[in-house]
Amino acid sequence: MKFEKIAAPKGVREYLPPESQAFEWVRQQLISPAKRAGYQLMELPVFEDTSLFNRGVGESTDVVTKEMYTFEDRGGRSITLRPEGTAGVMRAVIEGNLDRGQLPVKVWYSGQFFRAERPQAGRYRQFYQVGIEAIGIDDPALDAEVIAIADQGFKNLGLKNYRLEITSLGDAQSRAAHRVDLMKFVSKLDLDEATRTRSEINPLRIFDDKRPEIKEAMQSAPILMDYLSDYSRDHFEKVKSYLDALGVSYTVNKRMVRGLDYYTGTTFEFVHDDLGAQSGIGGGGRYDGLMEVLGGQALSGIGFGLGVDRALLAAIAENTLPVQDFNSDLFIIPLSLDEKAYVLNLAQEVRRAGFAVEVAFGDRSLKGAMKGADKSGARFVAVIGESERESGDVELKRMSDGTSIRVKISELQKVLEA
Ligand code: HAM
Repeated sequence: MKFEKIAAPKGVREYLPPESQAFEWVRQQLISPAKRAGYQLMELPVFEDTSLFNRGVGESTDVVTKEMYTFEDRGGRSITLRPEGTAGVMRAVIEGNLDRGQLPVKVWYSGQFFRAERPQAGRYRQFYQVGIEAIGIDDPALDAEVIAIADQGFKNLGLKNYRLEITSLGDAQSRAAHRVDLMKFVSKLDLDEATRTRSEINPLRIFDDKRPEIKEAMQSAPILMDYLSDYSRDHFEKVKSYLDALGVSYTVNKRMVRGLDYYTGTTFEFVHDDLGAQSGIGGGGRYDGLMEVLGGQALSGIGFGLGVDRALLAAIAENTLPVQDFNSDLFIIPLSLDEKAYVLNLAQEVRRAGFAVEVAFGDRSLKGAMKGADKSGARFVAVIGESERESGDVELKRMSDGTSIRVKISELQKVLEA
């Protein structure tokens, strides 16, 4: 009987060697600035109670109405694969009482997220984000630092062809004032039922509509930035001046609307110019009402999510991935069965000294094993036979130029360090 192959589900992005090494490098570079700024890891479930996202992300969003992977579990509960990270962090902060301790609560996370979008280059149904959230302090300096941390992540990758766009979505007072005029404007438009319903839940959504006729009509719509309360305006001015002080360049995009409903005040997006339609490499902002909506205290929050898949595509487009970094330092070939245990031990020892070491397995010819060594990309290769074991010397071949040196096995580490 012949079994059929099974393919990965449609639209998922997975990373196999050697690409996975580049992916992991990108992920580490993106998140390292947050770790250095005192953010701490949060490991959260990839599925949550569906109501968390309905309430947290918002009923007017595409994410909630069209894109969630929702199913009933065996206990009849409605479960959803997380489409984003902020709502889950907030749930965990409330549940774990972190908001009763030192503020701001500063956490980072990394993992898979799920949205049933139409797959295309840079848009997947399972994708990867790293993100941070800073909860409980409303200080424009914090907003600027959060943005600068994201920016540093992209700089770590060596990216240049990207822009930061910022806006303010105002506080409740700003939004209420804007809503009155916007609803008046929208009521004059010829909208279908679904769009009208969305606009009633969150009128800002219509700015996000991709249809040309609606885009055109919205050109003359009242803009939230013109309705900012004194508090929101002053807050935003301060964020901008801190960004200036930090040397983080930005443009103000008065029409920016993000795909999630919880945003208030400072909101931002990083856009890469070489990626085509899916150009958003990261985004975030304040969400000052979210904790309360999820049953917690009325505390503020700000954070970002960076798209690791798209950041990798950007690094490939700008050719900034390091070439060498991923290979091991030493590849050891045992000449016969008698040397295997010795070689395994030696490999462990050199690894303990901090080097990456691979061993040749199987009973291949020396030629075959050398081929394997070559393919591995290791810096050095050592062949160990009986005479090496006895003399304690080994011939170390430098793969970059093919030259060999004879060294004492006990001094291997010194050579590798050089
Ligand atoms: P978001 O803008 O929906 O924000 O997603 C953040 C980033 O995730 C995007 O800029 C993009 O790079 C990546 N991304 C989103 N959807 C996909 C997809 N289908 N395929 C590939 N990449 C994708 C959030 O998720 C917020 N939770 C960010 C945040 C944290 N705001 C405040 N705190």
